[in-house]
Amino acid sequence: METGDLGRRVAEDVADGGGVEGLRRLSGVIEALEERRTELVEELRRGREATWEEIGRACGMTRQGATRRWAGRLRARSFGVAADAYQHGRPGYPRALVGSAVPREARRVLDLGAGTGKLTGLLVEAGLDVVAVEPDEGMRARLAAAVPKAAVRAGSAERIPLPDGSVDAVVVAQAWHWFDQTAAVPEIARVLAPGGTLALVWNVRDESEPWAAALGVLMHRSAPQRIDTRPALPAPFGAPERLEIRWEHVTTRAGIVDMVASRSYVIALPEDERVRLLADVEQLLATHPDLADREEIALPYVTRCTRVRLG
Ligand SMILES: C[S@@+](CC[C@H](N)C(=O)[O-])C[C@H]1O[C@@H](n2cnc3c(N)ncnc32)[C@H](O)[C@@H]1O
Repeated sequence: METGDLGRRVAEDVADGGGVEGLRRLSGVIEALEERRTELVEELRRGREATWEEIGRACGMTRQGATRRWAGRLRARSFGVAADAYQHGRPGYPRALVGSAVPREARRVLDLGAGTGKLTGLLVEAGLDVVAVEPDEGMRARLAAAVPKAAVRAGSAERIPLPDGSVDAVVVAQAWHWFDQTAAVPEIARVLAPGGTLALVWNVRDESEPWAAALGVLMHRSAPQRIDTRPALPAPFGAPERLEIRWEHVTTRAGIVDMVASRSYVIALPEDERVRLLADVEQLLATHPDLADREEIALPYVTRCTRVRLG
C-alpha cells in the first residue's frame, strides 16, 4: 500500500464519525506522530546515520526546512552527552539568589529544565519543597543522585507533568532560551497557583579581566552566542523585577575546560574542531601570565534574575 493511502486510511479510522470528538482524537494522534517523528530525527542525527538533506527528503521538506524545524531542539536536548563535564565544569549559583528568585511566602517550587541540579540543590537546602523537571535522561540521572530530596520528573517546559495550580514558584536557570516560549508561557501559568512567580536566571561570565576576555573570544570563535538575559514576558505575567549578583566561581583549569566542553554549541561541533577548541582553551589557561602558578582560578560571574508574578 502507498504511504499516502495508508495515512488516509489511518486518518479516517481515527476521525471515525467526525465532529468535535473525531477532531480531538485526530489531533491527539497527529501530536503523537509528530513527537515520534522528532524522536526519529534525533536518533538519526545523534548516530550520524542520515544527513539533513536525507531527513528533509524523507519528510517532504528541503534541507533548510528540516534544519530550521529540528536543529534547535536537537541542540536543546544535547546536554546529556556531556553531563559529567556539565556537573564538573559549570558554575553553581550564589546562595543569595534563592531569596530573589523565590518569594518568601512560597513553599512548593518547580525547577524547570533543572539539568544536573545545580540550582535544585540550593532550593532544597533553603527548606523548599522542590520538584525538578528535566527532559534529558542523562542529566536527570545525575540530578536524582546529586539532590535526592527533590522529586525528579521527566518532562519539558512545553508539557509540564504537574497538575494545575500546584506550585507557588517556578525557576528556570540557564534554560529559558531553549524553550518553545509560545507553548511554555501558558504551561507555566497553568501549573502556578494564583499570584505565583516565575524567575528566569542566567550566569553571565564577567569578561573584564583580560584572560577571561581571551577565553570568551576562543569560546565563541565558531559560534557567537546571543542570549537575551533580561527578557520581557508576555501576559498573564506582570512587570519584571530584576536583580544582579556579582560573584566568583572558584575552579581549576580542568573545571574551565569542562565548562567549555559542556556548552551545547561545543557538543555540536565536528569532532576535530571540538578537540582543537578544547586544546586551545587548555593552552590559554596554561600560558596566560595572569594565571601562572595558580592551582585554583576564580572565574568572575554576574548572575542575572528576572522575576515576574502571575496576574
Ligand atoms: C544549560 S542547562 C541548565 C541546567 C540547570 N538549570 C542549571 O542551571 O545548571 C539547560 C537544560 O535545559 C534542558 N532543556 C532543554 N530544552 C528543554 C525544554 N524544552 N524544557 C525543559 N528543559 C529543557 C536541557 O536538557 C538542559 O538540562
